[in-house]
Amino acid sequence: MVSEELGFATDVPVSQELLTEGKREEISPSSCATLGPFRIERYFAKHEFSVQHLLCCSDCEPLHIKELLELADTDSLKRWERMSLGYTESSGLPALREEVANMYNSNVAASEVLVLAPEEGIFLSMQALLQPDDEVIVMVPGYQSLSEVAKAMGCSIKPWGPVLQSDNSLAFNLDTLAALIGPETKAVIVNFPHNPTGALLTASEWKELIRLCRDNQAFLFSDEMYRLLEHDPSTRLPSACEEMPEASITLSGVSKTIGLPGLRIGWLVCKNPEVMSRLRELRDYTTICNSAPSEILALMALRAQDKLLQRSMSIISSNLMLLQDFFAQHKAAATWHAPKAGPIAFPSFHLGKPSSVTCQELIDQHSLLLLPAEVWEHQPSQQQQRLRIGFGRSSMQAALDKLGQYLAQEEL
Ligand SMILES: Cc1ncc(COP(=O)(O)O)c(C=O)c1O
Repeated sequence: MVSEELGFATDVPVSQELLTEGKREEISPSSCATLGPFRIERYFAKHEFSVQHLLCCSDCEPLHIKELLELADTDSLKRWERMSLGYTESSGLPALREEVANMYNSNVAASEVLVLAPEEGIFLSMQALLQPDDEVIVMVPGYQSLSEVAKAMGCSIKPWGPVLQSDNSLAFNLDTLAALIGPETKAVIVNFPHNPTGALLTASEWKELIRLCRDNQAFLFSDEMYRLLEHDPSTRLPSACEEMPEASITLSGVSKTIGLPGLRIGWLVCKNPEVMSRLRELRDYTTICNSAPSEILALMALRAQDKLLQRSMSIISSNLMLLQDFFAQHKAAATWHAPKAGPIAFPSFHLGKPSSVTCQELIDQHSLLLLPAEVWEHQPSQQQQRLRIGFGRSSMQAALDKLGQYLAQEEL
């Protein structure tokens, strides 16, 4: 999937010889050569399209093209009908960059937006910001590329782990971050709302995080793929590009919040001109530019974003109620806590077996896919039996019924 699109081959030999104009030239290991397999993506690649029921997706119900075209404004429909299938502008369609810039405060300009695939945005940002031996703070557990790319580049990784709360949720504590960060820290890489825990900082914690980065002159990379899906909209945090414009990159996109992962459209917002210029240069080595149909469809979607967010939130809210009832009936087997944002939860299961075994049994016996905690490498022991549940899909009840059948058997 994603990793293959970006050419993250995992079987590349560590040292290769290259034949250049008749001369044999030794090339040193590149960061790609030392990248480990992207465990979650490999797990999805193996099972996503062969099981009947998915209960672990991180996106909201994908839209059909007909639904999106019905929402389109006159200008984007005209663009759609007249579209040429040539190369596109490498920073992204200007009208789309304008639409993205309008999502943030008035200080963000279209020229400070780079449109690309979200995963590509992570890869390029790490290349633009980091050098071997740089000290980098990353959240664990977390979306693997947010730590793996820096690790493969030879950076020294300091994990910021969560603390178990009395309601069984996992929260990221600012005292822990304060103990990790220092003048040596080159970058802090965060993801709020967080995948997989659904954790969100409070506004004052977010301010404290920014203060810690500023005081230590650390660059902030903020993955905001799930921002706008806060269950209580008053808890929405300002974007990093608004709060720390001088030294941050914000990542977002249309994959999770508005059900359009197949467009492969996301964006980086960066107000630091040198970093943005480097990002543009590096992008020529991955995809060069976006697909024209995807850009125009994303333009339609962002212009109808309020409606699409309402659609996502209505699926999320009704599924959350189903989940509360479900877990109330299965207290002996699992402990639930409602996440604060997004379509993902990370409840724990008390089944006396590793979560990878539970997941394999669910696949074999019920053709149901959940994600085992083992796909997140760094876990404290209390997470061993956590499973990621995704509740952004409209067909959740059928999947939940299958999980119920399995738990009923286990509870006997
Ligand atoms: C936190 C986070 N960041 C980035 C991505 C990558 O998004 P995409 O798959 O649209 O490239 C994901 C996808 O799961 C994610 O969960």
